Amino acid sequence: MAIMEGRDSKDSYAVNSALQNRNFHTLAQPRLEKAIGHMLAAAGGGGGGGGGRHPLRRLTIADLGCAYGPNTIQCAKSIVQALGRWGISASAEDDEEAGMVKEEDADNGAAGMTTKEVLFIFSDLPRNDFNALFEDLESHFSKDSSPPPVLYVSGVPGSFYGRLFPSSSIDFAICSYSLHWLSQVPKSITDRDSPCWNGEHAWIHKATEATREAYSSQAKEDMQNFIKSRSFELKSGGVLFLLLMTSISNPHEQQLRDDSVWEVFDLAWTALVKEGAIRLEEMELFNLPMYFLSQNEFEDIFAHAPDFRILEMETLKNSVNGHNLTAEQWISLFTSVMKPTVDKYLGAVRSAQLFERVGAIARSRTDSHLQFTHDLTVVSLLRL
Ligand SMILES: C[S@@+](CC[C@H](N)C(=O)[O-])C[C@H]1O[C@@H](n2cnc3c(N)ncnc32)[C@H](O)[C@@H]1O
Repeated sequence: MAIMEGRDSKDSYAVNSALQNRNFHTLAQPRLEKAIGHMLAAAGGGGGGGGGRHPLRRLTIADLGCAYGPNTIQCAKSIVQALGRWGISASAEDDEEAGMVKEEDADNGAAGMTTKEVLFIFSDLPRNDFNALFEDLESHFSKDSSPPPVLYVSGVPGSFYGRLFPSSSIDFAICSYSLHWLSQVPKSITDRDSPCWNGEHAWIHKATEATREAYSSQAKEDMQNFIKSRSFELKSGGVLFLLLMTSISNPHEQQLRDDSVWEVFDLAWTALVKEGAIRLEEMELFNLPMYFLSQNEFEDIFAHAPDFRILEMETLKNSVNGHNLTAEQWISLFTSVMKPTVDKYLGAVRSAQLFERVGAIARSRTDSHLQFTHDLTVVSLLRL
């Protein structure tokens, strides 16, 4: 499982995730505001659907796979902003009146609600740099800031493929750019006697149908576990908002791009095997725990989740597609996302060697296909 690298590193996700941040801002933000409107409507009985729950004195919001760095902060700010737009602000005051939020907007579903407190729960795998995150949060969400601050913050370490929170405790959960990471590499991939054996390739770009199928099954099983866990944790009327990396609908283009990207990675492994820095068996047994389901596959999983109803689901062209990255941009992006997993497998020293080699090979390339290719699916699910 991937964990993003420490904050001081030039290879860190925090330093190299501006593209994801831009996509979040341009593609997800407007839909996030609508999703929050739905949650508030369900809670308060206003417009946007849902039956109304109770006066909304306390909101609990969870960011799953939060990582840390600018994107985490941006995501939290976007949610606070969206709450503000719907007339919800947080207050630390004990006094009922001081904590009142606007009641005047009868159409927005937040009408008549007083939100006294907002609890923001940041969750990621235990090795996430929660300390860096909490330091960042302190400077970005001071008590005097405007719009009103998120007042209570906590961190929950653990895998989102299992239970993280008490039953019916979450009003709104967001998970962005994280669900393509699998809970594990499918076991059959590393079994030499299995038709799924993936040999010397690090991912599925050259894989047989059996190998792809094993990855796809693992991704579906993980996603079902994710949804099942959230169904316990979200309150009825709560909303789950997902920004998912999905496979593109043009298999030919996908193949072209994948071959180019992953060939660079495989070549780097092979070079270090030839030099004796990595054993052949180590290379053969390494596979990335990552898979992009398609929008249709996600839709099918959600359709079979009896506790949720899809409010909105849309697949958008990733704004990276069509804009070729420079070799340096691509190297930084690729290294920041993949290196933590390789660090864990090879150790920091040999992993650094490997990514130096990835950089050298990528710089020597003249083809224009060196980029990640995927679409982004944004989905809001209402907990029934
Ligand atoms: C690419 S980062 C996304 C960070 C941020 N949400 C964003 O939108 O930029 C993926 C995050 O998912 C986390 N992650 C991966 N697998 C996970 C799991 N099983 N449970 C919880 N977090 C996980 C990683 O640790 C990492 O911080």
